[in-house]
Amino acid sequence: MAAAEPRETASGGLGAVTRFRRLPRRFLAAAALAVLALLGSARWIPGWYWAWRTDNPVRRGGALAAGQGCLSCHMPRGTAETANPGSRWGSVPSFFRGNLAMYVASAAQVQNFIAWGNAQGSESKTLPSAGETTAPSPSPPFHMRAFRDRLGPGQIADLAAFVLAADGYLIPQEGPVAQGSDLSLKYGCESCHGVGGSGATPNPRSFTGTVPGWTGPDFSHLVSGRAEFGQWVLDGRSRKMSDSRAASFFLNRANLQMPSFRGTLSDKDVDALWQYVQWLRETRGRPSHAAR
Ligand code: HEC
Ligand code: HEC
Repeated sequence: MAAAEPRETASGGLGAVTRFRRLPRRFLAAAALAVLALLGSARWIPGWYWAWRTDNPVRRGGALAAGQGCLSCHMPRGTAETANPGSRWGSVPSFFRGNLAMYVASAAQVQNFIAWGNAQGSESKTLPSAGETTAPSPSPPFHMRAFRDRLGPGQIADLAAFVLAADGYLIPQEGPVAQGSDLSLKYGCESCHGVGGSGATPNPRSFTGTVPGWTGPDFSHLVSGRAEFGQWVLDGRSRKMSDSRAASFFLNRANLQMPSFRGTLSDKDVDALWQYVQWLRETRGRPSHAAR
């Protein structure tokens, strides 16, 4: 420590000058690194921010379904279902509009199915025979496993929200909301905007890196009402966005662009889609809004 002493007491000498020069340089280097790191990650920040702001159970459930292997058996939107001879309906149900009603009698039973492997939510493996079309075989190759020991209640609730949204189980049977939902399915709107408009499907080179959904707070930034909604759907862009050079820059360089449906969709179709989107915004895929 003796060597350190003269340096500590040196004042005005060469030691002090070099120390004065060295310290800020180190600080400058650290500051420059911090700035570089910030600049480097700057392009990800809007994506992180909006992913956090628009987080929702349907999207979380969709990610879980992919991550937990559910989709290996339940092919999402598959046109052909995996054959499962000897099971209740002879196939593994795909997570697709209209299948769910063949397996469950209420939205609550979806959570049972995931937690217990059956609609009743019990240890029993026997299913009600009512509506059975195939003779039960001793052992169908695919079995729905119980996930209650592997996933928490929150995860099971998210998965149920996703399954319900993918199936459209809670969507009214008739009226403009039903028509809007059919149009959304027909034209693949939710392949880009996420199941049930849950958003955040990848869109490299766009501002946030994802396609926005319809149920989060970002929607109101992009769509102020029915008129602006119509501009997006019919022209592929709102007037507000077309008028902004910065917005146009990001929209143009993105991998995916909103298609223009003018000539394909009528004003009445756009009305129905608008009603459907409003309905999604009210329910947010929550089973508590179940009409049945
Ligand atoms: C090994 C294949 C397999 C895996 C993996 C699997 N399931 Fe299933 N699941 C089935 C089969 C088979 C049925 C149909 C049971 C029957 O015939 O009664 C089913 C039925 C269901 C049902 C009720 C029917 C429907 O259309 O929704 C739900 C809900 C469900 N599974 C959710 C899940 C979820 C969520 C996961 C992932 C956490 C998952 N499953 C993983 C095979 C699987
Ligand atoms: C090929 C992918 C794709 C399809 C299919 C698609 N969109 Fe879009 N949509 C986009 C992209 C990309 C944007 C631009 C959003 C952005 O980057 O700000 C957009 C923007 C929108 C917006 C305004 C922003 C928001 O919050 O959603 C609405 C509303 C919209 N689309 C509705 C629809 C409807 C309704 C359909 C079906 C009739 C549809 N989209 C089909 C990709 C798609």
